[in-house]
Amino acid sequence: MILFGGRSGEHGISVATAGGIMGAIDRGKYDVVPVGITPDGQWVVADDEPARWAIADGKVPQVPAAPGEVVLPLRAGSREVRVVEAGKVPAVLGEVDVVFPVLHGPYGEDGTVQGLLELADVRYVGSGVLASAVGMDKHFMKMVFAGHGLPIGPYAVIKPGEWDTRRDEILDEVAGLGLPLFVKPARAGSSLGVSRVDSPDGLDAAVRAAQEHDPKVIVEAGITGREIECAVLGGRGDARPRASLPGEIEVTAPGHDFYDFEAKYLAEADVVLSCPAELPEHVIKEIQDIAVRTFEAVGAEGLSRVDVFVTPDERVVVNEINTMPGFTPFSMYPRMWDASGLAYPELIDELIQLALE
Ligand code: DAL
Ligand code: MG
Repeated sequence: MILFGGRSGEHGISVATAGGIMGAIDRGKYDVVPVGITPDGQWVVADDEPARWAIADGKVPQVPAAPGEVVLPLRAGSREVRVVEAGKVPAVLGEVDVVFPVLHGPYGEDGTVQGLLELADVRYVGSGVLASAVGMDKHFMKMVFAGHGLPIGPYAVIKPGEWDTRRDEILDEVAGLGLPLFVKPARAGSSLGVSRVDSPDGLDAAVRAAQEHDPKVIVEAGITGREIECAVLGGRGDARPRASLPGEIEVTAPGHDFYDFEAKYLAEADVVLSCPAELPEHVIKEIQDIAVRTFEAVGAEGLSRVDVFVTPDERVVVNEINTMPGFTPFSMYPRMWDASGLAYPELIDELIQLALE
């Protein structure tokens, strides 16, 4: 089952990823059951046509509601999926061997769906409950990274309600971070609700924008450095996870003061993704080592993309881990594996086989 869409601001990105996977998965080997989750949380049997789900004309796709239809893999142990149609006796859709939850953001990448699949005793691709939850929450993510001695940048947390009750203390703390600042919802993705702040006057609007996505907000010190990403794939058996060659993001057009949602998905011409990134061999090794340690620190499984900065003096600073990174054929995660010798269809197969191990 390819499970996609969902109740998150990254709904459309998930749908686009699902389309990519539907188009590339080996149909001789796998029977695909596409199940979409609408933005308000209804599970529906979805169209199997990859082109239907592409980002087109600057618009991200969306799973349409199908009134009366619900699919829930909820019978523990049976691994059956039931389709319930209004006014009809539930029909067994078939036994699902493995779910590929291609979901980004809250209610999908955050451990909630993973918990549902655990309860239903269904195997699934990617991280389990805890790693997914840690990877979704930038506050707890940073604490886990720090606890493992991974290099992270300075930051402050604004917990729900604190911006109105402890603002002066927070402003003092944030003043120590310098400028620019990056203000982010603690639990979101694809840069939704993220602002770059170049003067303290801009902080209030940035915190309010982040709070539209999550009442908990993170304020990060801007790190001077190149934006580098590294793909990690779970190890087979007792083997350690593997890291790809790193890739680099460069925002080239004016109008984006960082790698924002628009630059990520809608205005690709404004961004250069170089893969592999041109870096000295010892820096590549360092990035790969840190990426694998980051993956292991949160207890990730299957796949993750680790995003880092490489400073002018060649220090590697971990920005974040994404336990279900963007995964269309054009996304960095598959591109980095492609550059490392693992093509998109093989990567999909490898991830499913890892889930079945
Ligand atoms: N959150 C987006 C999908 C990413 O990390 O690629
Ligand atoms: Mg993220």
